[in-house]
Amino acid sequence: MVSEANSPAQTGGLYFKRDARHTQLEILRQLTSRPTVKAKDLLPHLAVLRQVKDQDEIARIRKAAEISAAGHLAAMRAARPGAYEYEIEAVAEMTFRKLGAERLGYPSIVGSGINGTTLHYDQNRAKTAAGDLIVMDMAAEFGYYSADVTRTIPVTGTFTDRQRAIYNLVLGAQQAVMDSIRPGTTLGRLHMISAAYIRDHSNGLCGATGCEKYYIHGCCHHIGMDVHDVNTNGSLMAGMTFTVEPGIYLPEEKLGVRIEDDVLVTPTGYELLSGGAPRKAEEVEKIVGR
Ligand code: GLY
Ligand code: MN
Ligand code: MN
Repeated sequence: MVSEANSPAQTGGLYFKRDARHTQLEILRQLTSRPTVKAKDLLPHLAVLRQVKDQDEIARIRKAAEISAAGHLAAMRAARPGAYEYEIEAVAEMTFRKLGAERLGYPSIVGSGINGTTLHYDQNRAKTAAGDLIVMDMAAEFGYYSADVTRTIPVTGTFTDRQRAIYNLVLGAQQAVMDSIRPGTTLGRLHMISAAYIRDHSNGLCGATGCEKYYIHGCCHHIGMDVHDVNTNGSLMAGMTFTVEPGIYLPEEKLGVRIEDDVLVTPTGYELLSGGAPRKAEEVEKIVGR
């Protein structure tokens, strides 16, 4: 029973039903329309809090990246001409689960041949054939934090000369970005570095225009509770985690290459979190199908 002393009328408080969203919005509207109330947007502050990870968050992302790299290794070993894309996907996902991932970071992408040139291809139904490259973009979520890792492999275990040249161009761009990571720079600047690298090192690989026009997405995005985590476009700070993922896509040649790794910004540079899966062409060749 509401007594005289603590009745809403007596205390003058603002009472509303917590689950009534429209009521809350109306109260907010009334409060913020008062000249003495300075309403501020909370979201940018939350975004910065989410971007800079604490030690516990870093441990979770580190584990997600390690599990993801192990899944990629297993998938590389399982690949062979004639395997279906979903078989390779299943090997990686089984490994993620075995190693403690609660779920996937996002739907796995296993695109062979032409499918590797479709950015968010996730049907994974085609049969691989000798000569194909396979773009494998697959990662685990651990403790509610997601990794985001891509490897591109030749299904036979050997890159053709042309595949190797494009692969090494993408790898070089990725390394150029990593070498430029430090607190104070921005993801926008890092993207420019990757695009300039591809432009300046195309060496006629994509005709007179260079390969930059076949690099059709950004180099980097934050990772965290969401695989594409919040971004304020501000300067990088130690404790932030993001992807480095240049790619070149040549659909007319059924040839797509993306290499994607996860990094942690440190006070002096970066730490590679997903290095458990090899990136160098010769190292990839030693593992595929074995
Ligand atoms: N896996 C989605 C992305 O690389 O952004
Ligand atoms: Mn990504
Ligand atoms: Mn990805």
